[in-house]
Amino acid sequence: MSRHDVRGLSLWRGQGQELLAPGLDHRKADRAATLGQPQARTLVGVSNAAVGSSRLRMDHALRGRKAPSFADDVRTSLWDVPKWLPSKYFYDERGSELFERICTLPEYYLTSTEAQILRGAASEIVAEASMGEDLVLVELGSGSSRKTQTLIAALLAAQGRLLYVPIDISPTILHQAAERLLAAYPTLRIVGKAMEHEQGLAALSLEQQGPKLVLFLGSSLGNYEPADSERFLREIRRHLGPQDHLLLGADLCHDPAVLEAAYDDPTGVTALFNKNLLERINRELGGRFSTESFDHLAFFSPEKVRVEMHLRSRIDQQVPIEAIGEVVRFSAGETIHTENCYKYTREQLTTLAEVCGFAQVTSWSDPPDRFSVQLLRPRGASLR
Ligand code: TRP
Repeated sequence: MSRHDVRGLSLWRGQGQELLAPGLDHRKADRAATLGQPQARTLVGVSNAAVGSSRLRMDHALRGRKAPSFADDVRTSLWDVPKWLPSKYFYDERGSELFERICTLPEYYLTSTEAQILRGAASEIVAEASMGEDLVLVELGSGSSRKTQTLIAALLAAQGRLLYVPIDISPTILHQAAERLLAAYPTLRIVGKAMEHEQGLAALSLEQQGPKLVLFLGSSLGNYEPADSERFLREIRRHLGPQDHLLLGADLCHDPAVLEAAYDDPTGVTALFNKNLLERINRELGGRFSTESFDHLAFFSPEKVRVEMHLRSRIDQQVPIEAIGEVVRFSAGETIHTENCYKYTREQLTTLAEVCGFAQVTSWSDPPDRFSVQLLRPRGASLR
């Protein structure tokens, strides 16, 4: 890895890293990523030189030639029976913005509850995970990093400096969060990774810096199918050394009415978030969806123990998608399945952690027992 000075900004550059001079619109990166342009997707401008860019590095996903594009994924899923769309496409710039709004909704108790747990447990988490050494903080699906700020502050208080490695699929939100955090904490360094979780994890273990605390919060685990969530936890475990820890936040199974309201708020923000998938197809693939002809649907399935999100066509309709060169047909009432949010019992979470090679150090939940945060360490790793 080499260091470069680009118009007065001190930046790193290594494989898969592309750092350009100020003025380049980093927002283009979100769009370029889906258009599959080979290098353009890795471009990120450092828009605020005052923020101390030598403390910031951004790494971008280099997509393998065979990886499916947005168009490929839409072609596969919208022509499947029943129709569905991969939920990772929620998070373009607009989707990430809407998701941040969801996190502030009173009905969406997950974020505030988890944040409250983290505030109460931060110093304990830091003491348990650091074992007296400087920790590197890694976060899978970091988004705005707002909840994480409690942990960043606690770690800075304990060790004076910190390397934070946020991993998120949206380069725009990653960049905004990095700028905010760097301005707030002068001894913080950030290596952002604009990529999917799996790629971020792999990149991380190549870098091998000190003991790590890996955060996987917001019940993102619940957006994987059960077999995949197990596979992914094992994958995390595989990338952790004996001194590392995983902090896992997961939503618990409770009152279906409360669960459903969290994903179907009266102000309609979650509906906009869901419908953004169709808007994104319109924007990026030349789709002709009229979002008014679809309803947002969110319901709890007791059999599957998950909240399902769908988009339901109000009418019989045919929607052309230019980039695919086909027309997708809907009958009235037909749905596109867009997301699953699995809910867990505490016993399930404990067992899942054990099965995937972790031992529970501590777990926390809020008084009504809606949300759980577990601190896990690799099983078999020596106890102090
Ligand atoms: N992982 C969170 C959850 O399951 C966030 C999330 C994912 C979400 N997809 C969503 C929130 C769709 C609202 C709507 O709740």
